[in-house]
Amino acid sequence: MTVTIPRITLNNGVTIPQLGLGVFQTPDGEATASAVDAALEAGYRHIDTAMIYGNEDSVGEGIRRSSVPRREVFLTTKLWNADIRAHRTREAFLASLDRLGTDYVDLYLIHWPVDGWQQAWEEMVRLYEEHSVRAVGVSNFKRHHLEELMALGSTAPAVDQVESSPSFSNRRLIDHVRSLGIVAEAWSPLGGTGGMLLSDPRLAAIARAHGVSPAQVVIRWHLQHGVVVIPKSVHADRIRQNIDVFGFELSDGEMAAIDAMDTGVRTGADPDHVDF
Ligand code: A2P
Repeated sequence: MTVTIPRITLNNGVTIPQLGLGVFQTPDGEATASAVDAALEAGYRHIDTAMIYGNEDSVGEGIRRSSVPRREVFLTTKLWNADIRAHRTREAFLASLDRLGTDYVDLYLIHWPVDGWQQAWEEMVRLYEEHSVRAVGVSNFKRHHLEELMALGSTAPAVDQVESSPSFSNRRLIDHVRSLGIVAEAWSPLGGTGGMLLSDPRLAAIARAHGVSPAQVVIRWHLQHGVVVIPKSVHADRIRQNIDVFGFELSDGEMAAIDAMDTGVRTGADPDHVDF
C-alpha cells in the first residue's frame, strides 16, 4: 500500500509534499541509497539532503534504484557555508548536480546565513531564472535575515527551513515565516539523532491514546501546524511508519499539550553565531 502525501503550494506555484525524508547523518553509501529507495517505494516523493551531509551521490543512487521517475521526486539540496563565503555558488551548485546525477533540483537552499549570503542569493535567483532549480529558499534565517533578504527587492524565498520540534518549537519565527507567504520546514523534527524527545512520557500518553508511536504523534503535530516535516531514519520500518500519519488526528487539547513542551532550548546552532 502506498500513501498519498498532501502537497503545499509554494509562493511561485510549485508544489511540495508536506512530508519528506531527511538524510542528515544518514551515512553515505548503502545506508542512504537504501533509505531513499525504501522511502520512495513507501510513497515518499520528497528527499532533503545537503552538500555538507556528504551523501548526495547516494541520494541520487537511491532515486535511480527506485521505481519512481526523477520528475516525480521533490529533491532539495543546500549551498554550504564555505561556498557562500568564497562566492562559489554556481560551482557548488553544479558539483551538487553532478553528485546527485540529475540536471535540476526542485529546491535549492542557503544552508546558513553566513557572510556573503546576499551575493549567494543573487546567484541562486539566476539559477532559478535559468530553470536549473524549480524554487529557491533559505535555511536557518531568523526574522531579521528575512527582512534583509526581502529588502533586496529580489525574488522572495519559497521556503525557510529552521529547527523545530516539540522541545524547541520556534513557533514565533515559524508563524512569522508563514505570515510572509513563505513555507516553513522543520529540521530535526523528532528532536534529532541521539535526542531524548521521543522517550518523553507526555508524548507516550498521547501516542497510546491513538495506538501510534511517539514519532508519529510528533510528525502529526508538525503537519497540523502547517509545517513541512522531513524526519530522518535509516530503518525501512520506521521510514514506512513515519508516513503512516494520515489515519488519526490530534485534538486541539493534544496540540496544546505538545506546544507546552517547548523549552526554548535549541539542539543546534544559533543562526546569529555560526562558526562553522
Ligand atoms: P534511526 O535513523 O536509527 O531510525 P530527526 O528527524 O529529528 O533528525 O530525528 C531522527 C532520529 O529519530 C534518528 O535518531 C532516528 O533514528 C530516530 N527515528 C526516526 N524515526 C523514528 C521512529 N519512527 N521511531 C523511533 N525513532 C525514530
